[in-house]
Amino acid sequence: MECQRMSMKAVVYKGEYDVTVEEVEEPEIQHPNDVIIDITTSCICGSDLHMYEGRTAAEPGIVFGHENMGVVSEVGDAVSTLETGDRVVAPFNVACGFCENCEDGYTGFCTNVNPGFAGGAYGYVAMGPYKGGQAEKLRIPYADFNALKLPEGDAHEDSFSLLADIFPTGWHGTELANLEPGDSVAIFGAGPVGLMAAYSAKIKGASEIYSIDRVPSRLELAEEHCDATAVNFDHGDPVEQVIDEHGGEVDKGVDAVGYQALDPEEVSEDDDYSYQPAKENPAVVLNQLIQVVRPTGELGIPGLYVPSDPNAPDEMAAQGRLGIDFGKLFEKGQRLGTGQCNVKAYNRELRDLIIEGRADPSWVISHRVDLEQAPEMYERFDEREDDDGAFTKVLLEP
Ligand SMILES: NC(=O)c1ccc[n+]([C@@H]2O[C@H](COP(=O)([O-])OP(=O)(O)OC[C@H]3O[C@@H](n4cnc5c(N)ncnc54)[C@H](O)[C@@H]3O)[C@@H](O)[C@H]2O)c1
Ligand SMILES: [Zn+2]
Ligand SMILES: [Zn+2]
Repeated sequence: MECQRMSMKAVVYKGEYDVTVEEVEEPEIQHPNDVIIDITTSCICGSDLHMYEGRTAAEPGIVFGHENMGVVSEVGDAVSTLETGDRVVAPFNVACGFCENCEDGYTGFCTNVNPGFAGGAYGYVAMGPYKGGQAEKLRIPYADFNALKLPEGDAHEDSFSLLADIFPTGWHGTELANLEPGDSVAIFGAGPVGLMAAYSAKIKGASEIYSIDRVPSRLELAEEHCDATAVNFDHGDPVEQVIDEHGGEVDKGVDAVGYQALDPEEVSEDDDYSYQPAKENPAVVLNQLIQVVRPTGELGIPGLYVPSDPNAPDEMAAQGRLGIDFGKLFEKGQRLGTGQCNVKAYNRELRDLIIEGRADPSWVISHRVDLEQAPEMYERFDEREDDDGAFTKVLLEP
């Protein structure tokens, strides 16, 4: 007798600017290494907005949500370190733990979880068959490897939820730039990832941190919580502003914006902070990084770039080809690092900083709401700031 699978609520992508909360099948154990968790918190990410705005190849039907935490409710027979009732957070990467890249710590580039591609993730276009966790339940494959255990109870729920992606990803931005104590750093983007990069730079002992964006509420957070100098590119060329303020080029740079970067020469203070594809320039931040970082300095690029963009500003960008000042980069002997964050490389240590009270990234969160409110939250997070205030990071609770 076949038993009927139960249904649960989940955030489903229907098409550009359209997500709904609807009933979908509950996940079940598909492999003895799986666990199922009851989601307690799942976050909306700037990466989800690329799909929401129709700027990826995402097809309708994807259950969104790659930033997931919850409590284990079912355990596969081969899982050896997790039990029902364990509180865990899952890296947004799905990784096997035993391929060459995983062994080397590059779990963002696992070659086993998404055939024909290096890297898997929950609820994301091209990242494999894994359903997202903006839902009541989630299946975690290779669970012993992918689920990071958290202390029981509900302490630090907000901060721990950020271990799935943005805190490690911000940290990764500073690692890619090889940021060392005493370095000065310019961080483009004060969205959740840029703010976490600035916070990571502060924790690591950067001497000066410049946070570049145009959304006032976000720049204020960078000043208040990261001791950053805010640079608003609506007020003038950001490279000139940083160099003037610092008295020269900075040691390191981080791109926490990605391919949907606005061109500072195209936007003005009269524009709101929402989606403005006509004013984008996908190479602008990369070129500004090359300008603002000193010769032999290093660039960390966690901001997302895509090999194909269905609504790109031009033909080249549609194929992920950008006009980068490579000659300048060569001349300056700069190095760069980019790619998906290998969350597992950092999440255990960042968890322990939170537990010991040495880090509390929860200040980045502007909203914790019921899962049912997801459609409204997508719309408003996409506007970044409206008359009712800032939308910096939204957490969904089923
Ligand atoms: N590498 C990874 O593993 C990883 C993980 C998570 C997110 N990301 C990517 O990181 C990027 C940032 O994510 P987020 O959640 O903070 O997104 P977000 O969209 O909320 O923030 C982006 C910020 O960049 C600002 N911005 C736009 N143009 C700019 C410019 N020219 N100069 C400076 N700032 C500019 C925007 O005003 C906005 O505040 C996205 O591309 C996202 O997809 C990458
Ligand atoms: Zn994310
Ligand atoms: Zn692997």
